[in-house]
Parts: sequence; structure tokens; C-alpha cells
Amino acid sequence: MTTTAENESLRQASLKHLWMHNRDWVQMAEEGDPLIMVEGNGVRVTDSDGKTWIDVNGGYNSVNIGYGRTEIADAAYEQMIKLPYFPGGTTTIPTVRLAEKLAEISPGSLSRVFPVSGGSEANETALKIVRAYHKRRGEPGRYKVISRSGSYHGTTAGVLWLGGAPTSARNDFEPAYPGMLYAPQPNPYRCELGGETPSECAELCAKAIEKLINFHGPETVAAVIAEPISQSVGAGVPGDEYWPMLREICDKHGVLLIADEVICGFGRTGKMFAMEHWDVVPDIMTVAKGIISSYLPLAATIVKEEIADAFAGKDNHLRHVLTFSGHPVSAAAALKNIEIMEDEGMVQNAAEVGAYFKEQLESLKIDHPLVGDVRGIGLLLAVELVSDRKTKAVFAKEDRVPERLNEKFRKHGLIFRINSNVLSIGPPLCITRGEVDEIMHGIDLSLWELEGEMGIAKTA
Ligand SMILES: Cc1ncc(COP(=O)(O)O)c(C=O)c1O
Repeated sequence: MTTTAENESLRQASLKHLWMHNRDWVQMAEEGDPLIMVEGNGVRVTDSDGKTWIDVNGGYNSVNIGYGRTEIADAAYEQMIKLPYFPGGTTTIPTVRLAEKLAEISPGSLSRVFPVSGGSEANETALKIVRAYHKRRGEPGRYKVISRSGSYHGTTAGVLWLGGAPTSARNDFEPAYPGMLYAPQPNPYRCELGGETPSECAELCAKAIEKLINFHGPETVAAVIAEPISQSVGAGVPGDEYWPMLREICDKHGVLLIADEVICGFGRTGKMFAMEHWDVVPDIMTVAKGIISSYLPLAATIVKEEIADAFAGKDNHLRHVLTFSGHPVSAAAALKNIEIMEDEGMVQNAAEVGAYFKEQLESLKIDHPLVGDVRGIGLLLAVELVSDRKTKAVFAKEDRVPERLNEKFRKHGLIFRINSNVLSIGPPLCITRGEVDEIMHGIDLSLWELEGEMGIAKTA
């Protein structure tokens, strides 16, 4: 634990010099933020004041094996003292072994691995691969990429234009990247196309993609990119028809299918990769976060053998160089991370404890009129709050529901920040039922308090 004076000095220095993502330093100063975290273990983290919290979102849905696993530090240390980096044009043992391991656990013929440092880079890499692939196959006119409005695929200058919020997150950065097309989200709770069941919504949304391909001409469309389960709407599990239909549509029109498994991958949904829920193999799969449980930066673009083979041969390689691609220290840590996940049955734990967690969240509907929908699978779960369960009306901005709930979650020891009417839940996959109960207690109390203040609390 640090002293009060040290703590204050850290906070002031961070407010003056640190540019944190998605937080504003004026508001943080008013709220006594930022919290400065000093250690973690399992699902818990401790701040510089010595207070312990439960991390309901496991970092950014990313600390899959949980905090404090010294085996990962040991693997990284051993590699760092042996060989921290490699001379150009060579590779290293952990980098090769990681590529081999990823090929082994990835579905179908996804077996050629381009390692990168983060999810945005993985998706940038995928964008370049699909365009370059079509050029190599003699279809240079295929450059457009279909994503789904509202989705998030990263923050760098290209992928920023995949999906995305309608305006505010992007209007600072116009003009848009060329060739970006947008399709509807297959969100069964609020189907944009009026589908009344998950299946109806899935079919309408898949057909909307085919309509878009036909409207623009298949000869201009390079790829479709989507998360298997959309985190942009909060654990939006599509109807079972969606992914098989999308696979068929892409095949019919020669369009490549990219599954963004940055959040869903590495056990989060109770399968190693979420596409396994539908037995659909994408042409490219992007992974990050859980691949290394966020202990170091690492991600990868994993490509089907038959697609990657288009880049084989002299002077034919993908022109794409990143200094940290295949970093051996990250690779060694990632291998250890996957080993822990497999040895300790964490994917299975995500399925089992996730089902229990979802049941507990469902029961919130009995007491809390604010709870409109509970959804998700494994440990990718969400609760959508509404002001009227029948009409699904959302709260007025003036009600400040996210801000007020954030204060209450904090009071109850939860690291659980929301910025919309959806509570997105993604704890480490090592979570126990007892820890789920603790989180549920904090959420339940927070909702009671808010409903009391709003004059809508249910009385017995
Ligand atoms: C689905 C998805 N894709 C891509 C990204 C970008 O990953 P990164 O922040 O590692 O660049 C994220 C980040 O949250 C994500 O959720």
C-alpha cells in the first residue's frame, strides 16, 4: 500500500500527464479519480489505498485466466533473459510454437498465423489480406468491406470505419475510409428489421447482407466482418440461422468472411472460439485479449490455409511489416496462458459458471422493473435496462442512469463502469459461483438504490 501523500502525488501526476483512453481528466479530478491499481489475484484487484475490488469486466473482457498468475511472469522472464527479440528475417522458438498451437486449436483449416500486438492491428491486417487476396486472384475490383452498424472492430485509422457509432465517436476523423458498407445488427431484442423472434431477425439480417452485396455488385465486395456475438449491443447472440446463412451467402458471392473473435475468443463464451457454437468456419479469424489474458500486448490474424496460399511464392508475400509482430516474450507468455486455460478447464468453467450467472441475472427481473433483457452465453453476458419493459423505452439522458449506477457499483466494491443502458459483464473465466454471488449482491443493491431514488422501487 502507498502512503496518502504518495497516492495524492500519483493521482495529480496522472491528471496532469497521462492521456487515458475514454476518460477526461477534468471529470476524473472532480470524481477523485483515477483509481490506481497495484495488484490483483483471480477476479480481484487492489488499489493504491489498499481497497480490494471485484473486476466484473476482467480488464476489457480480456483478463481471461484472471490476475496474478506468476507462471506467465516466469515464462516471459525466462524468454526475456534468453532472447528478448530476434534479428530481422528470423524467428524464435516460442513464436513458432504459438503459431503451431493456434493452428491446432482454431477451427477448420485456419492455420496460417500473422501475429500482431492488438485487436485493431489484427483487423487492419485482415483488411489488407482480403484486398490483396482478391488482387492476387485476378479480381482487383473487390475492395468494399461490409460490417454492421454499431459494431466495434478497433480504433486505428482504417478499422475505425468498420461498424462504429453513428457519429460522435467518428466525426473528429472524417473523411471515412473508402469502400465501407454497413449492414444491420442481428440483435434479437431490438431487431432493426422488425424480426419478432431470434430466427426471424437472423434471417432478415443475413438476407440484408446479401441484398447489399447484390446492390453493390459482388465483383466489388471483398469481405464481411462481424463478431460472432456482438458486444456492441452487449452480448447480442444472433438466432442460430445467422452464421450458417452468412457463410453460404459469402461463398455464393466469392466474398471472404472475417470473424472478429477479439472478445469472444479464448473461452469467453464457453467454447474456445464462439464460431464453434454454429460450426461455421470463417476465412479469417482475428484474436486478441484472451490469447494472452492481457498480461502483455499480443493478437493475431489467423487465416485459412487456402487463402494464405495465395501469398506463397517469390515476390508474392504480403507487404505488411510490424516491428513487434511475433514478439518472443509475448509468444512465450501466450503459450503459458493457453496451457493454463486448458489444464484448468477454464473454457468449461466459463460455460458452467456463466450459465449460473445468467440464471442469477434473470432473477433480477422479479424485483427490478428496470431490467428489460438478460442475454449472453458463457461469461459474455449483458443486462439491458429500460424505463418500460413492455415498450422497451430507454431512459432520458437527463436521468443519468449510467452515471448514477457507476457511482453505486463503485460504492459496492465493483469495478464495473457502464456508459449506456446496457450492463456488459465479462469477468475472468476462473470466477467461482461464490464470486458471482458477491457481484450479484452489488448489482442488486445498486439497482434497489437507483429505483428507490427514481420512485419506482417495487415494494413487497
Ligand atoms: C470486437 C473487438 N475488435 C477489436 C478490438 C480492438 O482491440 P484493441 O483494443 O486490442 O486494439 C476490440 C477492443 O475492444 C473489440 O472489442
